Amino acid sequence: MIICICRRLNDTAVRDAVSAGARCPDSVQAHHGCAFNCGKCKTAIGEIISEEMDAEAPAQLVAAE
Ligand code: FES
Repeated sequence: MIICICRRLNDTAVRDAVSAGARCPDSVQAHHGCAFNCGKCKTAIGEIISEEMDAEAPAQLVAAE
């Protein structure tokens, strides 16, 4: 699913950026070598970042024990 129409980033691209360490919408754009144009996708990118961080959190807790 396309998340950023201006830069043609889909949800997989956003998740790839989060896996590589992106933790904010600007970092996701930077990971793919671009920057926001209209900025309408910032909320959607932020929601995907939150989803990915929530999914990673249990694994990090287990690893910390
Ligand atoms: S939709 Fe992402 S910058 Fe416009």
